[in-house]
Amino acid sequence: MWRAKLKSTGAYLPQREVLNRDLEPLMETSDAWIQERSGIQSRRFSDLSNETCSKMGAFAAREALERAAWSATDPDLLIFSTLSPDYYFPGAGVLAQRELGLANIPCLDIRAQCSGFIYGLSVAQAYIESGRANRILLICSEAQSALMELSTRGRNVSVLFGDAAAAICLEASPFDGSNSRFGLIDSLVHADGRFAEELVQQNPGTRQSPIASADMIGRGEMLPYMNGPAVFKHATVRFREALTELIGRTGISAEQWDWFIPHQANQRISLHVASELSIPEGKLISNIQNRGNTTSASIPLALHESICSGQIQPGDLIAMAAFGSGFTWGAALLQY
Ligand code: UT7
Repeated sequence: MWRAKLKSTGAYLPQREVLNRDLEPLMETSDAWIQERSGIQSRRFSDLSNETCSKMGAFAAREALERAAWSATDPDLLIFSTLSPDYYFPGAGVLAQRELGLANIPCLDIRAQCSGFIYGLSVAQAYIESGRANRILLICSEAQSALMELSTRGRNVSVLFGDAAAAICLEASPFDGSNSRFGLIDSLVHADGRFAEELVQQNPGTRQSPIASADMIGRGEMLPYMNGPAVFKHATVRFREALTELIGRTGISAEQWDWFIPHQANQRISLHVASELSIPEGKLISNIQNRGNTTSASIPLALHESICSGQIQPGDLIAMAAFGSGFTWGAALLQY
């Protein structure tokens, strides 16, 4: 039997830091509103001349590959998660593969938005446990500032999101079933497409001509739309459900987790979920304050930063959960 073991992590943050007060001249907003409603103080915005989605993903992956001591021929599957790909097609996975000089391995693109990392973990788990892959590179990268409307019309979205990339290397480890607290213990994913339009960017899409008309641009149809309060409400319910399901499936209670890393959507959501599951605030890992919501990169970025700072130690049990556009959601339990 095989289990996926976390071998290494890597990350990339764009150089440009954008403080809340930098947004104030661009739209009717304030540092106080953003901090109070979301917990965010600053985020990074990429410079698209060099920090494209695939390039940032490759920068993060290079660090993860180095830390794993893997060469370009070692990974046998690349999984790339993003909602902000370089191109409409092909997916950003092949672009990162080219950038990294990886062999002709399959490149699988995941479109599960903020749940992309958990979806990626579940795919990697299935590949490794079935013996189809031994070494998997999972990259999550977001260059979503390119999609933001920095004006009052777009403010409920544009003050929240930031750019970043993170990557992990997962390796098949022999597993005799005796120690269930080993490697990627479990992952689960769900979706409910009835709410697809509550958090959506409709264009470019093939329902309308993908050639953007001036009217489409004027109506803001090339930009993300979010029904914030509805997303907030569903998020809190689905986070709790996913984590409760994880506890039931693994038989490992929340009390036994060393760390909880929620998708960094809003600090109020994270605190609410932690309190519902009686997870002490000291076990809650948050980086939204200075990273914003980095969509699929948020969990692996927080994981990487907490490992690098020494907060997460080998052997620690880490619960993770995400919720996002789709709606999609999921959870995973990992021993580092
Ligand atoms: O990562 C994917 C999942 N995403 C999430 O889970 C995000 C979920 N939603 C949220 O985090 C919150 O709904 C937001 C942070 C987006 C908004 O916070 P809220 O407390 O739900 O505010 P609201 O949308 O109910 O808006 C309250 C007021 C409105 O004004 P009126 O109608 O009361 O006059 C908004 O127009 O705040 C206004 N507003 C803003 N004001 C200043 C909305 N955005 C802003 C802004 N600055 N950036």
